[in-house]
Amino acid sequence: MAAKTPPNNVKPLPAARVDSMQLDMAAIDAARRSLDQGAVNPSYGPWREDVIRLLNDSLATELVCVLRYKRHHFTAAGLASPKIADEFMVHANEEAGHADRLAQRIVQLGGEPDFAPDSLSARSHAAYDDSSDLKAMIRANLIAERVAIETYSQIIGLIGDKDSTTRRLLEDILADEQEHADELKDWLSVD
Ligand SMILES: [Fe+2]
Ligand SMILES: [Fe+2]
Repeated sequence: MAAKTPPNNVKPLPAARVDSMQLDMAAIDAARRSLDQGAVNPSYGPWREDVIRLLNDSLATELVCVLRYKRHHFTAAGLASPKIADEFMVHANEEAGHADRLAQRIVQLGGEPDFAPDSLSARSHAAYDDSSDLKAMIRANLIAERVAIETYSQIIGLIGDKDSTTRRLLEDILADEQEHADELKDWLSVD
């Protein structure tokens, strides 16, 4: 096939003008003031309260997960699989670690972590469970982990590039919840 020759009445486009990368000096200047805001600079944006609310709901979820896994650890100890009872405690401790990291980030953002016990269940995305049967415990935990995975994924999507530190923290926690769900799925299939 013959190569097309450009029509001679079309001028080549000028090279695209790319704006050079410039820092926002006014925002840097603003960062020198309002020192009482700590890690939150004026450029953080208007969504700080929303992020704190979402983190507090996740904190409530983690705390309810700690309580559910501990209950299961102690009541499953006499059942058929002591290894799974031990793993429930491993998960409880990891959920407690997640709660601590969320609370720390809430404080960094100038918020107050909500540990109020009366409203924990209502604020948590995942449910408490006091099943006495091992399979029912594993199933309840798997449901809770899957709810946590869905919730963290949605929050990560909502945060996007608005707050990369919070997003990285939630991505870290999400990876742990996926591991938990994977383990629970395996235990569910053990007879
Ligand atoms: Fe967790
Ligand atoms: Fe988990």
